[in-house]
Amino acid sequence: MTIQKKDLGAAVLATEYAVRGPIVARAQELEKQGKEIIYCNIGNPQSFGQRPLTWLRQLLALCEYPALMDIPLAVFPADAVETARAILEGSRHGMGAYSESEGLRFIREAVAEFIRERDGIGADPEAIFLTDGASKGVQTILKLLLASPTDGIMIPIPQYPLYSATITLYEGRIVPYYLDEADHWKLNRSMLDDSLRAARAQGTRVKAICIINPGNPTGSVLDEKNIAMVLDFAREHGLAVLADEVYQEDIYLPGDRFVSFARVLEARGIRDVTLFSFHSCSKGLLGECGVRGGYFEYRNVPPDVAAQILKLLSVCLCSNLAGQVATYAMVHPPRSGDPSYELYNREKKAILEELKLRAALLVEGLNKIDGVSCNAIAGAMYAFPRIMLPVGVSDEEYCMALLEETGICVVPGSGFGQAEGTAHFRTTILPPTEKIRQVVEKLSAFHESYVLVKY
Ligand SMILES: Cc1ncc(COP(=O)(O)O)c(C=O)c1O
Repeated sequence: MTIQKKDLGAAVLATEYAVRGPIVARAQELEKQGKEIIYCNIGNPQSFGQRPLTWLRQLLALCEYPALMDIPLAVFPADAVETARAILEGSRHGMGAYSESEGLRFIREAVAEFIRERDGIGADPEAIFLTDGASKGVQTILKLLLASPTDGIMIPIPQYPLYSATITLYEGRIVPYYLDEADHWKLNRSMLDDSLRAARAQGTRVKAICIINPGNPTGSVLDEKNIAMVLDFAREHGLAVLADEVYQEDIYLPGDRFVSFARVLEARGIRDVTLFSFHSCSKGLLGECGVRGGYFEYRNVPPDVAAQILKLLSVCLCSNLAGQVATYAMVHPPRSGDPSYELYNREKKAILEELKLRAALLVEGLNKIDGVSCNAIAGAMYAFPRIMLPVGVSDEEYCMALLEETGICVVPGSGFGQAEGTAHFRTTILPPTEKIRQVVEKLSAFHESYVLVKY
């Protein structure tokens, strides 16, 4: 028998992931026909030419092929060789063996140390799990939480579709809460209350609230007050919190800084809210999407639940070892005085300065287009401009027409969710600066003519 689509589960068929949807498929078709495509649909930094950090790649190379360590130190700096040796010793069996399901112990210790330094709080390596990117951690926790078809998870609108797709796949209920576009996409308490009330009125047992900070696709950065408000809300209503903090390095506006949920939870001495925090090697200055490294940390989880998390992770044996080493490189950069320190800092500064410049350039350009408005990109790697469209025209149609005419591939706002009656698209800030200028020019000309013709 060959498997037929009709044999597949309803949840599988209902699962959608807009970032790689029909517009991208069409872009690939056009590209095959020879059209130049500017892919602005996905936050995949190295596909736009962002160079990997030398430190990370040296560690990976040395760990994958330890014979390289015998090459004179002129090729690999002494601290990279020393660190790679320590990683291999810590791994005991090298890169080709399974590790413990939760990830190599000494890397989890390094993650705990990173959290302690970043937040000035305690961190327990036993509460840290290394995962194949943040996605795998998010999926594990959603699986853990969704116990029946009436269980729901609050997710932001707009959101990153990993959340909507996974909740659909695991047959839970999506409980949308709206971010306030008029207030730089921040959260506000009344919108959270409205969302929870509406869900409960429909018989949904709301288990958790998910927050993406800095925001994808919104580019917003939450301050301590906003985070405290969410924690208080979760506490009052008995919800767990999923804090997706994969963009914590990408903060662009003066005066803003990344504040972790863990830090605020500890500062307020909260012991009755379960927190899961996620981080990744895919974003920030690493941009190592293909390496699939990441981790999550939990707080306020009783031992019998922790055992279930470990069991879920054990089903896939362990996360990939290269990803674990990349996570080590992320949380353990060269220190002042180390041979690799200067180059590391130079590369870091260049990447973050470039992203900051592109973010500003893109927003300025978008806001000059009549009928397009965009909040400042305070963090992450995306703009989510609002577009005024003629009545009856959908954002999908607009994005498809934009692709056909200009070769610019963006994702319609409907793929992330948006307030009724509004239309948006998401574009990354990742194309090189010159390409960003082209994107803005082409978009501007396209928007004017498209809206004119449709009216
Ligand atoms: C908000 C958010 N969370 C999680 C992920 C997943 O990243 P990865 O699985 O590559 O770590 C992404 C990727 O774009 C993201 O934007």
